[in-house]
Parts: sequence; C-alpha cells; structure tokens
Amino acid sequence: MLPHFIVCSSLISSNLCKFFNTQSSAVTSKESESTQCDTGEPSLLEQVKDIAAKVNSIEKTLGVVKQSKESQAQTNKFTRPTKSTTLAGIDVVLGGQWGDEGKGKLVDILSQEYDVCARVAGGSNAGHTIVVDGVKYKFHLLPSGVLNKSATCVIGNGVVIHIPSFLNELDNLKSMGVDHKGRVLISDRAHMVFDFHQSVDGMSETKLGRNKIGTTKKGIGPAYASKISRNGIRVGDLLNWEYFEERFRTLATDTINAHPGLEIDVEEQLAYYKSISDRVNGMTVDTIQYTNDAYHNGQKILVEGANATMLDIDFGTYPYVTSSNPSVGSVLTGLGVSPNKVSGIYGTVKAYCTRVGEGPFPTELIPDGADSIGYHLGTVGAEYGTTTGRQRRCGWLDIPQMQYSCLINGFTAINLTKVDVLTGLKEIKLGVAYKYNGKYLKSMPACLKSLSEAEVEYETLPGWTEDISQCKNFEDLPENAQKYVLRVQELLGVPVRWVGVGPNRLDQIDRGEGWDLK
Ligand code: IMP
Repeated sequence: MLPHFIVCSSLISSNLCKFFNTQSSAVTSKESESTQCDTGEPSLLEQVKDIAAKVNSIEKTLGVVKQSKESQAQTNKFTRPTKSTTLAGIDVVLGGQWGDEGKGKLVDILSQEYDVCARVAGGSNAGHTIVVDGVKYKFHLLPSGVLNKSATCVIGNGVVIHIPSFLNELDNLKSMGVDHKGRVLISDRAHMVFDFHQSVDGMSETKLGRNKIGTTKKGIGPAYASKISRNGIRVGDLLNWEYFEERFRTLATDTINAHPGLEIDVEEQLAYYKSISDRVNGMTVDTIQYTNDAYHNGQKILVEGANATMLDIDFGTYPYVTSSNPSVGSVLTGLGVSPNKVSGIYGTVKAYCTRVGEGPFPTELIPDGADSIGYHLGTVGAEYGTTTGRQRRCGWLDIPQMQYSCLINGFTAINLTKVDVLTGLKEIKLGVAYKYNGKYLKSMPACLKSLSEAEVEYETLPGWTEDISQCKNFEDLPENAQKYVLRVQELLGVPVRWVGVGPNRLDQIDRGEGWDLK
C-alpha cells in the first residue's frame, strides 16, 4: 500500500501546488466575495493552501520530496520493489493431531506450483512417505517438495539437523534419480544434532523407565536443550573451522560431564565434520534473507510442517511431546518471516486418529483381535512409523482435540486424509465432547491426569462399503462418506478442501476454493 500512497500523495500535492500557483489569481468573484465576508471560516484559498502545506509535510515525513542522490538511495532501501504488488505469500501445511496425518502427500501435490519449499521445525524425527508411480520416497529432514525439480528447498533456522542423516537422505534421493544439485539450502542459524545428542536421548529414555516419553531417539530433545542452554552449535559455525572445533570440544566436554558413562570420540567426530564441511558449506546460506527476498520477488513459498500440534512443546500433551513448536508459530520463528506474509494455513487431519509414543489418547481403540476396529485402522491404514517403524496407536477422530488445534493454528482449510481407510466399517464414530467429573469440558485440559480421566462422548454415523479410491470429485463419494466429511467440516467450522481417498499422489479430491460451508 505504501508505494501507492506515496504516488497518490505526490500527485495530489503537485496538482494542489499547480492550482495554487496558477489559479489563485483567477478565483471567481463569488469566491472573492466569500473571502471578504467575515464569517470566521477560512476562505477556499486558505483551505487549499492549508491542505497543500499538510500534504507537503506528509511527503517530507515519508521521504518523497526531491532529495539528493544519496538520500534517495537510503529511501529505496525501505521501499518494496514494484514487483511486490504481485506477492504470492507463504502457505503452510501443518499436522493437526499427533503426527503422521499424511501432510507429505499434500505438500508433494501443492509443491508442484511453489518456487520454494521449506522446513521450519523439528529434525529427523519427522517422517513423510510419498508414493509416486508406485515408487516410495521417504523423507525425514528434507521437504518432500524436493520432488518438484524446479523448487528450491530450505531447511530453516528452527530445524535441528543431524548432518550424517541429512547427507544420507540426499544421497539416497540422488540414487533414486532425484537431482537436487543447487536446490537444497540450509540455514546458517539451524542447530546441529550430533551423534552424542542421540546417545543422550536413548540414555534419558532408559532412565525414565516406565515413564519414558517414547521419543524417536533422534536426539531432538537434547539438541534443542543445547540450543536453549546456549552451548549449541549452528550449521554456519562450520564455515569457520577453528571456531567450530573450539565449540565442539567445549560442547562434548559439557555433555560428557553432565552424563556420566557417555563416551564421545571427539577426534573421530571432528575428522568426520572436517571431511564433509565443504559439502555442507556449499549449501549453507542466510535463509532468512533468501526467503524474504524470494517473497518480495513474488515467488510462492510453501512451508512443510513437521510433527504436529499435539506434539508441540507448548500446546501438546506435555511432557509427551517433541521439543519444538510444530504449530503455526514456528513458521515465523523457524524461517524468520513476518506473520503478515502468511496466507493459507492448511491443517492436515487424518479421518481417524493415531499417535506413536506414550501419553494420553482419549479416543484410542485398543486392537483386541482381528475383528476389532483398532486392528482394522492399524492394518488397513498401514499405521507404522516412517521414522521408527513402531506400530501407531489408533482411535476415532477426536473433535475437541481438533477444535483446539483449529484455535491455535487458525486453519484456513482442512486436508482430511485416509478417508478410504474407513471403508468397510459398519459405523463410524466421532468423539464430539469431553466430560470430566460429569461436566462438559470447554477446552482441552492442560493437565494430563484430567485428560487421561476425561470421558469422551461420541456421535455415530453410518459407514459405507464402496471402494472410494477412484473417486475424483466430492460428488463421486458414497453418500455416507460425503456425510462424514461434511459433519467433520461442520464441527470444525473450517472448510474441508482436500479429501484423501488412497495412498497415491493422485488419490486426493480437491474441492477447490470458493465454495460454501454446507
Ligand atoms: P522426539 O521428537 O523424538 O523427541 O519424540 C517425542 C514424541 O513425539 C514421541 O512420542 C514421538 O513418537 C513423537 N513424534 C516426534 N515426531 C513425530 C512425527 O513426525 N510423527 C509422530 N510422532 C512424532
């Protein structure tokens, strides 16, 4: 808006000045009369003069009056390039539940239209599987948008990165024919996860025994702990070997001291990091500048959320959470962009619910026997972790949990995935309210004890038996499947734009934008 205003105010000002200079002597007699009239009101001429003076003063404040060359250059620094009038904005795909909602597929489909795909939080604890033409691609640290050959992938400052796993992922992709040369950029401010962070993760879990978190043991918590304790090491530190080495030795000593029994082969680690430093340095950039420049140049940016809202360190089922903020806030803090640049916030929600690891799960269905619904969801949905291979716990879709997630993230649209997994169930339930001590709860309880003791009230909908994997339009779905989707939409108050009907890239209905909530 600012450039338009500047142009407009300049025009107004110069026109008023012209009017004042050339027309002041030609005021009509009627106007002269009124000037002579002592009404106490300023004359038209005086009013025009006053407006011109005010506009001049505004122009001066905004820096649009004629200036010397140097001061003009200074002003340009704070003015958006004209191309920014066609800003495309930043869109975000986030996990609405406890992870593994199938975000990767939407990102993969959307990313075909984006110039930049970014990760902003978490690390190699995340896992996305994308199936393209029957070929399975597994992603942990890389945005799955890397499959779009013209997209640049950014690993933002909010991510914690285990370099050996990252390089491995890049090499695997290359061997599968995905050329990523020059298309992967790592933030110089992203923190590093070392092997010893992973050892500490395992040791802490062992120490917790029965109360373990059930982490992925990828060193995520200990790496964020180093970051917050201010003795962490950032990817950009590798650009200066002496500095990196000094910080590494200090961090290794501090970690050994804090964890009796932990062994770190410092020399071997340093030799490894020296050997890969050129390769990593070649990908290291100031991604804050890069992303903001891309935005101002009208490029489309897609943020691929990792983990999920209920695993958020602040909003999730603490302490059974990850150590970052996988909700909408991390887009800003993990990429270095302003909230006014974010447009679409797409919440990915599985048509039922799963979680891996420990912690309360109000709508959980224990798989007791091959006829049980818990067993159906787990086997038909192939609910095994991409990162750990662990079996996921399954349950009905939890609406109060999702309403909480919508509140935090402000989703602009929902991507309802794996609706096909519900095919064949006679009845489908939706958890619609929580009750605690006989009273309805208004929101998600913070205290895990209350959450684990909360009773869930269900609504039952009729199921369907027809195969839906070939449905291309919403209207192609069986009536009961449509009813299920529309009921979820109604309860969440957010449009369900995408409906997942199968594991392949194209097995997804896009209801498009611009339609009404029915
Ligand atoms: P961490 O992130 O490895 O520390 O694990 C903390 C908790 O988050 C554990 O319960 C993990 O199973 C869970 N978790 C972390 N990342 C994901 C994910 O991408 N999907 C599902 N669960 C996850």
